[in-house]
Amino acid sequence: MRAPFSDLPLVLTEATIAAGPVTILDKVSLMFDAGPPTLLVGPNGSGKTTLLRAAMGLLPLTSGRISWGGRDNASPARRAIVFQRPVMLRRSAAANIGYALAATDTPHAQRIDELLALVGLAGMGNRPARRLSGGEQQRLALARALARDPAILFLDEPTASLDPASTKAIEDIVRDVAARGVKVVMSTHDLGQARRLGGDVALLHRGRLIEHAPAEEFFAQPRTKEARDFIAGELLV
Ligand SMILES: Nc1ncnc2c1ncn2[C@@H]1O[C@H](COP(=O)(O)OP(=O)(O)O)[C@@H](O)[C@H]1O
Ligand SMILES: [Mg+2]
Repeated sequence: MRAPFSDLPLVLTEATIAAGPVTILDKVSLMFDAGPPTLLVGPNGSGKTTLLRAAMGLLPLTSGRISWGGRDNASPARRAIVFQRPVMLRRSAAANIGYALAATDTPHAQRIDELLALVGLAGMGNRPARRLSGGEQQRLALARALARDPAILFLDEPTASLDPASTKAIEDIVRDVAARGVKVVMSTHDLGQARRLGGDVALLHRGRLIEHAPAEEFFAQPRTKEARDFIAGELLV
């Protein structure tokens, strides 16, 4: 059963995270609301993972504010995150999903089968999760995240270490999930992927939000030098 409130819109206001003298996230103001996926792009070390973890509520801010559906302390039930290298329980694929379902009231076997099918793993529930290929584990991680019926799903470079076929499989799932009304916020350093999936694109550089625009506009008319350099493949950390 869905929680009675949503975590959307998710609003970051001058969100800042410092680690000692280093500012990892620098006054980022950004809103995520229902709609097509938001793609976070930027060179390595620009703060993408930090921003996703903060938006998930896993990292405290040094200053600034984050609110989820107007609340400062949202229930984590309506948010889910898939890390770049998801860790599977040393159990079957089905058990990994079942573990995430534990808090819900849906009959498990049926829901597990639905989720496995959604990510293209139908019939593979009995396989040991850790023996699945990298792409299959990434899809299982997606199924596990979706088990919690999130309103917003954060994906941290989910295709970074995958081959083209596995990458396409993940992109198809992202489209499918977005079409079902889940807000997807996904980081990538693959500009082609940002073009293919992005409703809007946010460019981070050195912890700052440099540019945020509808995807078409971001690629056709970048407003900043950093965005132009990034699109040309020349933005270095
Ligand atoms: N806990 C931490 N302490 C110190 N520096 C960190 C910490 N976490 C991340 N960083 C640094 O912050 C920067 C941004 O990191 P990250 O968010 O992982 O970037 P991205 O995901 O875009 O590659 C990097 O320079 C990274 O080394
Ligand atoms: Mg990262």
